[in-house]
Amino acid sequence: METLKNLARAVGGPTIRKGLMREVKTLGLLGTGVIGGGWAARALHFGIDVIAADVKPEMEAWIRGAVANAETALARLTFAPLPTKGKLSFTTDLRAMAGQVDFIQENIPEQLELKQRVLSDVSRAAAADVLIASSTSGLMPSDLQRDMQAPERFLVAHPFNPVYLLPLVELVGGRQTAPGTLAAAARFYAYIGMHPLTVRREVPGHLTDRLQEALWREILHMVNDDVATTGELDDSIVYGPGLRWAAMGTNLIYHLAGGEAGMRHMLRQFGPCLKWPWTHLEAPELTESLIDKMVAGTQAQAGGRSIRELERLRDDCLVAIQQVLKPYNIGAGATLRALEERLYVDAGRAAAPARADGAARYPVQVRPEWIDYNGHMTDSRYLQVFGDATDVLLRAAGVDDDYRAGARSLFTAESHIRHHAEAHALESLYVDTRVLAVDAKRVRLWHELRRANDDGLVASAGQLYLHVHTSPTRVTPMEEQVQSALAALQLAHERLPAPAGAAAFAAAHVER
Ligand SMILES: NC(=O)c1ccc[n+]([C@@H]2O[C@H](COP(=O)([O-])OP(=O)(O)OC[C@H]3O[C@@H](n4cnc5c(N)ncnc54)[C@H](O)[C@@H]3O)[C@@H](O)[C@H]2O)c1
Repeated sequence: METLKNLARAVGGPTIRKGLMREVKTLGLLGTGVIGGGWAARALHFGIDVIAADVKPEMEAWIRGAVANAETALARLTFAPLPTKGKLSFTTDLRAMAGQVDFIQENIPEQLELKQRVLSDVSRAAAADVLIASSTSGLMPSDLQRDMQAPERFLVAHPFNPVYLLPLVELVGGRQTAPGTLAAAARFYAYIGMHPLTVRREVPGHLTDRLQEALWREILHMVNDDVATTGELDDSIVYGPGLRWAAMGTNLIYHLAGGEAGMRHMLRQFGPCLKWPWTHLEAPELTESLIDKMVAGTQAQAGGRSIRELERLRDDCLVAIQQVLKPYNIGAGATLRALEERLYVDAGRAAAPARADGAARYPVQVRPEWIDYNGHMTDSRYLQVFGDATDVLLRAAGVDDDYRAGARSLFTAESHIRHHAEAHALESLYVDTRVLAVDAKRVRLWHELRRANDDGLVASAGQLYLHVHTSPTRVTPMEEQVQSALAALQLAHERLPAPAGAAAFAAAHVER
């Protein structure tokens, strides 16, 4: 299995140049409804520019609203350092869009002939190394690519609503798709925090919608036969299997259900019921009476809450679930972890390298949600920003995910923050970090947070870090190469003018 570091390297922007695909700086969207809006929000959030194209000019206001709406939950998905947001532009000229972008994601209505016509047209306006992906829920890639120019760069990339929060994207190639297309597209989707799942061969409905449809058919039967209401059927998932699915899916969970003997015992025990059968294969007729029952049932469940309100609740829960799964490095939590590692690595690259003639510089933009009721950056964010700057410097010294995988890390022992000025929403700042002192088990850092426009000092911080073995936790000497990298930085930083306050911090803590 790839380590997080390798994955982060593999998906990194510049490496996308390899193979079939160019680096994706600008994403083109064809169709800007629910799914197009979701793609826009995700791509913009992770620093990719978006040109959205739709035949209806009124969709411009819609997509801008959808992006703003998604931002509330997206902003809380990760506190890892983010690049500057991408820029969104809109056009009704599909071919003009195709001529300006590095990757195209099609999200127009689910009609084969319409998609074939638009894909064929757009493929003639896009350079041959621009990958073109369709969000289709169930159409076959071989059918969709039939009339395209350079069909080898086409794939299905089926996302899930809301695209900006759910990481799954199913990748499916058609008969004319080049083998490298799926791999190149997978790198792009992983770069924007998704989990690309390559489907071995094209089948109608790909993987997930076939599974969802089996459940959906059964729901319709049970409501139709008055066995249960829509609310009762949702409870049957939400309080039980739904909780397990987010971590392990159906098969691994059933393996556990078989006890020590696992899946083999589980199949012996429950295999006979597959013959009864419990379930119906054919969907019921969608009669007016069934439709009325489905609508009345879900309206009762909504309890007067609007779709927007329910979407916000859903989004908050989706963010929370992914954060809970992250420490276990499982399912969507593992995807979030890999994304964060990539963001830290990229922030480190974007920061000025720890030069011999200057402190390590880490750029920061004050995000609107960091502002408190006083109208400026709230206390805890100072600690976060200084912590991120520390992470960037330590990574440069070799304390990366591989190092930590060996149960070695640096823990914060002391933080002394002094505030000098206020920081406002969207203000551009930077942190200069210096190594004040280092020995085998300790490193003292000095951070200065300054405004980018006039270098005015906003806050300073002295921090003491202890090197630890994390299992069980005890202070241990750091690896020699890490200590010598930090010592080299200290030597370089000693040549800089002494920062006010740093000497007192260093002197006050020599005994620890
Ligand atoms: N809604 C979902 O949950 C979901 C999930 C995954 C995939 N999908 C797939 O994504 C695609 C889009 O679904 P949606 O729910 O966003 O639909 P939607 O109806 O919300 O949006 C479709 C958009 O395409 C635009 N459009 C129509 N004809 C066009 C053309 N010729 N050129 C450019 N734009 C055109 C429409 O104006 C509209 O804005 C479908 O293929 C669907 O199967 C949907």
